[in-house]
Amino acid sequence: MDVMPPEFGHLSEGNCTQYQCPYHHWVYGLDGALKGAPFMKDHPEVAEKSLGLHEFTSAVWQGFVFVNLSGDAQPVSEQFAGLNTHLGRWKMADLTMVADIGWDCPFNWKVLVENFMEPYHHAGAHHTLFQPIMPAQGCWTDEEGEHFQVCHLPLSEQLQRKVKAGQPQLLSFAPIPGLLESDFLEWTAYLAAPTTLWFVAADRVYWYRLQPLAAGLMQIRTTLLVHPGSADSENYPQTLADEVEMMRTFHLEDMEMCGAVQSGLGSTAYTPGPLCSLEQPIWLFQRYLARQIRQAQLA
Ligand SMILES: [Fe+2]
Repeated sequence: MDVMPPEFGHLSEGNCTQYQCPYHHWVYGLDGALKGAPFMKDHPEVAEKSLGLHEFTSAVWQGFVFVNLSGDAQPVSEQFAGLNTHLGRWKMADLTMVADIGWDCPFNWKVLVENFMEPYHHAGAHHTLFQPIMPAQGCWTDEEGEHFQVCHLPLSEQLQRKVKAGQPQLLSFAPIPGLLESDFLEWTAYLAAPTTLWFVAADRVYWYRLQPLAAGLMQIRTTLLVHPGSADSENYPQTLADEVEMMRTFHLEDMEMCGAVQSGLGSTAYTPGPLCSLEQPIWLFQRYLARQIRQAQLA
């Protein structure tokens, strides 16, 4: 049994000195060792390490905790090393989580990854929200990374002219300290394969956590991170409320598309079609998946 089931009302903040399973009150130390079990004195194996919680290796990268479930995964610091050159400037470990929304998604997790990374659909699904400020036709994708992808979404030429004239555009929160001038000219989408996504602007990071549950079902948590100095602004509460609403709006536009894509994938009429050059992230993602399948077959 999960000893910390989310339905059990554990506090999201605070401290504890041990874990107690809510079912039969078996108690575990913070190191995972079983410390006690009611009415089990006659069973010496209760004291054995083998009855402790399972151990997994973890690592912190840019403030995010990654868990190595297979035990033999390449360290994330190596897998995502190529992301440091650009995304590293955001110093995400220093940012604050200010909004968090959970979503139940009736589609495969790979549908969402493809949707998140490709900007072609700005001209369709987001034709009023994103296309005027980040036109699809200006977007481009970095060279292939073995475990990650980077897609650049430059602001419109008109907005870029204003930024270059010293008028930063689309900033609602405090700009992230230490960014380059060029970082104010685009938004950027990142995939840390397979299931971590970031959508990044000069004043914010949207972080998507994907949890696949079944072939056609998953959950996402979308989290907004900003610089802590943003809270000093007089209008901060209203700004935050507006931006959370915006975050919900553009994600809903994508949710509708992803649900319809899942329907299409299940159709007997489904056949693969050509990709637009603006969908290069999808091509790269398919190549990543092919590599994973090939390696699994060879292992
Ligand atoms: Fe989208």
